[in-house]
Amino acid sequence: MATAQPLILPEAGPFALYAVMKVTGDAKAVLAQCQQIHEQVAALNELQPHSDLRASIAFGKDFWLSLEKGCPAQFEDFAPLGKGDITAPATGGDILLHVNSSRHDLNFYLLRQFMQPIAEQIEVMDETYGFRYLDARDMTGFIDGTENPKTREARADVALIQNGEFAGGSFVMLQRFVHNLPAFNRLNMQAQEKVIGRTKPDSVELEDVPAASHVGRVDIKEEGKGLKIVRHSLPYGTVTGDHGLLFIAYCHTQHNFNVMLESMYGETDGKTDQLLRFTTAVTGAYFFAPSMEVLAAL
Ligand code: HEM
Ligand code: MG
Repeated sequence: MATAQPLILPEAGPFALYAVMKVTGDAKAVLAQCQQIHEQVAALNELQPHSDLRASIAFGKDFWLSLEKGCPAQFEDFAPLGKGDITAPATGGDILLHVNSSRHDLNFYLLRQFMQPIAEQIEVMDETYGFRYLDARDMTGFIDGTENPKTREARADVALIQNGEFAGGSFVMLQRFVHNLPAFNRLNMQAQEKVIGRTKPDSVELEDVPAASHVGRVDIKEEGKGLKIVRHSLPYGTVTGDHGLLFIAYCHTQHNFNVMLESMYGETDGKTDQLLRFTTAVTGAYFFAPSMEVLAAL
């Protein structure tokens, strides 16, 4: 099996960086920078031990096709979803740099180094720093990640393409959500639990998960088998500015993302995810994170 990019399989450390870029100039120079990122990370890990710095670099569909290296099956752009007040925009992007470590400063430093030679060739569309919050909670106060695949083997099964020329690669879904915490906090705890579908203190699934709760929308079975994704989301933001969840997940197929999104945004059965009354997606994009071998050969 080809080698997955180092960030994907381990559990997320406490700090992350998500940078979405558009290539506006010399694509070759940008690609060369992307191809050396893991060496750059390895060098930093030597200098700064115990920081568990890991990265993944992923590409939007248009940029990927421009490389003329074939196309992983069913690689599609993110499509806008929903209607009325409950919508998800598609904001695109050519390159996603996702970094995770135990140190905020190293994530920042890595992006500076990465950008320095290509600053004139790209436009940064979104640069967001995530941090683990309390005991791995979303800012709503609910534990996020309970049902995430845990073992390396389970995560590899879910996240990585198993066979063919793109084996070891992974599709990435990204949405930045801005929360309205005052509105959520006007609900009492029982009402909040009905929005999420799990208990607040300890994340136990409710006996009767409401169909329109978040878990009711995304815990989906197909032919008796639960649809799974590997989430790496973290809270981000400032108290007086935008804050919420930088949702990011990896999967061997975009199908699982699409089915979950259609269910959340009312396109499956008209029911929308009650969580979306309290948070709004401001970005949305799909990327492909090739295996280390394919990345090196681009
Ligand atoms: C579960 C929060 C967006 C997919 C959960 C849980 C929370 C949560 C608290 C329950 C604990 C857990 O199992 O992790 C949020 C928040 C979101 C968000 C705050 C946005 C603001 C999304 C999106 C997707 C998604 C966009 C996929 C398209 C899932 C899945 C589960 C889950 C697959 C596990 C369901 C299960 O198997 O029980 N989320 N989520 N979430 N979420 Fe989200
Ligand atoms: Mg479940």
